[in-house]
Amino acid sequence: MKIISSVEDLRDQLRGQLRTAFVPTMGNLHEGHLSLMRLARRHGDPVVASIFVNRLQFGPNEDFDKYPRTFQADVEKLEKEGVYVLFAPTEKELYPEPQEFRVRPPDDLGNTLEGEFRPGFFGGVTTVVLKLFSCVQPRVAVFGKKDYQQLMIIRNMSRQFALPTEIIAAETYRAHDGLALSSRNSYLSAEERVEAPMLYRILNEVADEVRSGHLDTFELEKKAMAKLAGRGWKPDYVSIRRRSDLMPPCAGDCAHAEPLVVLAAAKLGITRLIDNLEI
Ligand code: PAF
Repeated sequence: MKIISSVEDLRDQLRGQLRTAFVPTMGNLHEGHLSLMRLARRHGDPVVASIFVNRLQFGPNEDFDKYPRTFQADVEKLEKEGVYVLFAPTEKELYPEPQEFRVRPPDDLGNTLEGEFRPGFFGGVTTVVLKLFSCVQPRVAVFGKKDYQQLMIIRNMSRQFALPTEIIAAETYRAHDGLALSSRNSYLSAEERVEAPMLYRILNEVADEVRSGHLDTFELEKKAMAKLAGRGWKPDYVSIRRRSDLMPPCAGDCAHAEPLVVLAAAKLGITRLIDNLEI
């Protein structure tokens, strides 16, 4: 695997490649990321991964400084997956001057759910993803459904800017007890790790209720939030949305089999976990 840190070297290395499959990451790689690499391999060749902890998507009180950085272990994992190029730019390389041109996601999609609790987050994500796409020029790029809203926003950006990159969605990779794998799971204490799969269990309970005809989504969301709070979590939201646009379902959507998804974000101790489940 070639480890490349400059945009110029990356362009030299990938010149003439028309089927590049790209997986952007922030490192601290786990099985979930590796499953994205495997999916990328099925959709293109060569596979290019990136590791870049993107300051633009962290709020002032978020964990940019303590975000886990495990570069050597990540390299070994990517080598085993047969990744051809790892693009790992420094901040100075990717942002040699203040990034004044930014992508601004539409307010309805960018400021709801995660966007409400992490102002500026999706602007930071889309700006770096557009820039990484411009460096790698991939034919396809893979993103996990675990970050459901991120996936939708990137897909919409790619379509609206007519980018030549097809966005591929990967299923969420879960531990045996249902917890969605995430780099931030490493912040959980042993005790919290035992409690953490409750988030997914509650999403399943909500989904079961909707499937069995319980149509009062507000009531279901309230009950789920209260259950989390009762177990010591600090929930930001549990929200049932339309899969098509992530807007709350209108009266009748549930009854008329509109595809839905239930999304949740909650803090357990200092760790903020997000998860979702398609209904
Ligand atoms: O999902 C992530 O790890 C990040 O948001 C991404 C897409 C790599 C952009 O920094």
